[in-house]
Amino acid sequence: MTVVASTRGELAALRSQVVDSAGGGSIAVVMTMGALHAGHAELIRRARDRARVVIVTDFLNPLQFAPGEDLDKYPRTFDADLQLCREERVDLLFAPTPDVIYPHDDQLVRVSAGPVGDVLEGDSRPGHFDGVVTVVAKLLHLTSPDLAYFGQKDAQQLWLIDRMVRDLDFPVEVVSVPTVRDEAGLALSSRNVYLDASDRSAARALSRSLQAGAHAAQRGAESSLAAAREVLAAEGGVRLDYLELVEPFSFASVSPDYSGEALLLVAAFVGRTRLIDNVRLRLGSGREEE
Ligand code: PAJ
Repeated sequence: MTVVASTRGELAALRSQVVDSAGGGSIAVVMTMGALHAGHAELIRRARDRARVVIVTDFLNPLQFAPGEDLDKYPRTFDADLQLCREERVDLLFAPTPDVIYPHDDQLVRVSAGPVGDVLEGDSRPGHFDGVVTVVAKLLHLTSPDLAYFGQKDAQQLWLIDRMVRDLDFPVEVVSVPTVRDEAGLALSSRNVYLDASDRSAARALSRSLQAGAHAAQRGAESSLAAAREVLAAEGGVRLDYLELVEPFSFASVSPDYSGEALLLVAAFVGRTRLIDNVRLRLGSGREEE
């Protein structure tokens, strides 16, 4: 059974209740902005595999949207979200309104995501990651989990949350989950509902470009980027925002002669919808390290 809390008081009371009825054990949280899909369901299943109690948060966080972004039209599907939580045996769904999370509505004190919060997604969306890490910090305090699950689809977000947890000593283990894709390779996203049939087919160029980049990775950074760029350029319906290779442990851009593990990240507009995706790959022959 999934119980629903929408205030801090309800969350505290229901959290104790579900922990008691599970007889103790570890607690996992899966944080979302609602409009749940099979990617979120995968996070919930991974959490269910390891934890006795699973809490899902469903909060469309205004702090991580800049003016002019899609906060107002972001899909809201609470009844279907609750249904998915029931099917996935979520114990507690916390679905607060903004005034519950931000009672002073100006949130003067925020967590800073630091320099990695200003590149790539943070360069295109100034202030976005401060809004993300601030709400994640608050939701970690409110839910007090042992485990917190995040998707690799949002690789920079995952890196920043993991780093915040370590830098600020949150007593939680961050667990990452591979990206869930549709049968054509498109990474699942709540924003995919904005895409019509022709947008959808154009959007597939993102994952195809990452595959092309991964395929050419052995020949080095420039070949990998060129192969990925070629696929994107051939798809008229895609307007590229960025395509970059970074070192996975620092998020620093790779040098042209870098070899080893890297992340290839893409952000692009398909019509008016902004999509992101990424793939992990290995640049160069790798022989130098062996
Ligand atoms: P949201 O976009 O709803 O995503 C919630 C979680 O689901 C994130 O950890 C995200 O990486 C993961 N996710 C989304 N699509 C996925 C996919 N196709 N495969 C695997 N995981 C996927 O990310 C946010 O919300 C917010 O920024 C949040 C962390 C909740 C803070 O507001």
